[in-house]
Formats: sequence, structure tokens, C-alpha cells
Amino acid sequence: MWRRVVSLYPLLSPSKSSVLHRAKGGIASKEKTPFITFVLGGPGSGKGTQCAKIVETFGFTHLSAGDLLRKEISSNSENGAMILDTIKEGKIVPSEVTVKLIQKEIESSDNYKFLIDGFPRCEKNRIAFEQIIGKEPNIVLFFDCPEYEMVKRVLSRNEGRVDDNVDTIKKRLKVFSALNLPVIKHYTEKGKVCKINAVGTVDEVFEQVRQIFTELMV
Ligand code: ADP
Ligand code: C5P
Ligand code: MG
Repeated sequence: MWRRVVSLYPLLSPSKSSVLHRAKGGIASKEKTPFITFVLGGPGSGKGTQCAKIVETFGFTHLSAGDLLRKEISSNSENGAMILDTIKEGKIVPSEVTVKLIQKEIESSDNYKFLIDGFPRCEKNRIAFEQIIGKEPNIVLFFDCPEYEMVKRVLSRNEGRVDDNVDTIKKRLKVFSALNLPVIKHYTEKGKVCKINAVGTVDEVFEQVRQIFTELMV
């Protein structure tokens, strides 16, 4: 026990420990109550990369709001054109559209552990989720990354995304500061946020993430 506390100390501040303590009841539940993790951070902070590793190691289902919206565009859904225009501008798609896509995935899944990545992007997203799904997140991961690093990563992502260019990234960073940081502040005040230093190699960042989920799964 002593060794465990000592080894966690540099990464888990006392407040982070209490975030985990509060969240534990949910994940240990035998009922199929969803355990919801919101995964937040600016564009290129490494959310998707780390979610893939959490899925592999801890058996979560990964729901990326951006991926669900891009799927709507490529399936020529009725909202496809509107979503494409919104993404090109780095703006936020109407909350009801995004929450309904997430809801469909949650309801059709056999899993009960979810990573909801890139959501909520703004207070309207957050409130719509709480109203439509009727649940708050058990925990919120925040990948804290300086802008220069996010810009560097986005510009070298090379996945052919319409929004990974200098003009759109500037807009996305502004939207992140103006609309997403207030959501992170809200959940920080509710004691739900685990802040992760997103600078470092993928494996170095994942070590911080691993410690959080290892604590949660106990
Ligand atoms: P997000 O989902 O937050 O937008 P991604 O996970 O897609 O970010 O990562 C953005 C880009 O940066 C990708 O090309 C990814 O391979 C790369 N990347 C992710 N994590 C790191 C890291 N820790 N160091 C360097 N590059 C990274
Ligand atoms: O998270 P990701 O970088 O994949 O998001 C890409 C874009 O998808 C965002 O810049 C935004 O235009 C849109 N999006 C949104 N609402 C969300 C998540 C993403 O409108 N909750
Ligand atoms: Mg992503």
C-alpha cells in the first residue's frame, strides 16, 4: 500500500485521487449501468490515440463524436452536407444531432464502459447529453497540450481530413478555448476531471492514463 501511494504521488494529485475515489463505485457496479468517460482536449492533443490504447488495455468502447459525424457525411445522411460545412469551418454541429448519434451507439452496445471522445465540445453539448441520455460522466479525462504541439500534430496527421489545415486549425483552437474550456471548468468544479500532461511520447502519456484506469478498475 505504501509503495502504491508513493508511486502514484507524482501523477495523482490529492484532488485526482478523490476524483478516482468518487468514480470507482460506478465502474465496480455489477449492473449494466453505463460507465461514461468523457475524453477532452484540444485538436491534436492525442485523444483518439490514447482511446485506442484504453480500449486495448481496459476493454472500453470508444465513441469518437468526430468519427460519428464523419460517418454521417460519408453515408450521405440528411445532415451530411450541414455537418461537412460545420466541420470545414471548425464550428460545432447542433448538439441534438451529435447526442442522438452517441445515444444510438450506447444503446446498441453490449458493453457498459464507454469513452466518449471529443464530446462535450461546448455547454450546449453537455446540457443536451444530460437531458437526452439522463446521465453525467463518471469521470472526465483532459489531455492538456500546448497549442504549438497541437498544431504540429494536426498538420502532420495526414489522414486526409478537410479540417487539418492551417486556417481551420486556427478556428478550432479558438473554438476550443472559448467553448470547450468552460466545460472542463464545469467538471473540474464538480471534482470529475483527471488532467493528463499530453506532452511526451504516446507511451509516456499512456502511463499516466494507465494509472488512472488501473485505480478505477480495482
Ligand atoms: P485528437 O484525437 O486529440 O485530435 P490524435 O490522437 O488524432 O488527436 O493525434 C493527432 C496526431 O498526433 C496523430 O497523427 C497522432 O498519431 C499524433 N500523436 C498522438 N499522440 C502523440 C504523442 N504523444 N506524441 C506525438 N504525436 C502524437
Ligand atoms: O474531435 P474531432 O477533431 O474529430 O472533431 C472534428 C470536428 O467535428 C470538430 O472540429 C467539429 O467541427 C466537429 N465536432 C462537433 N461536435 C463534437 C465533436 C466534433 O461539431 N462534439
Ligand atoms: Mg480525434
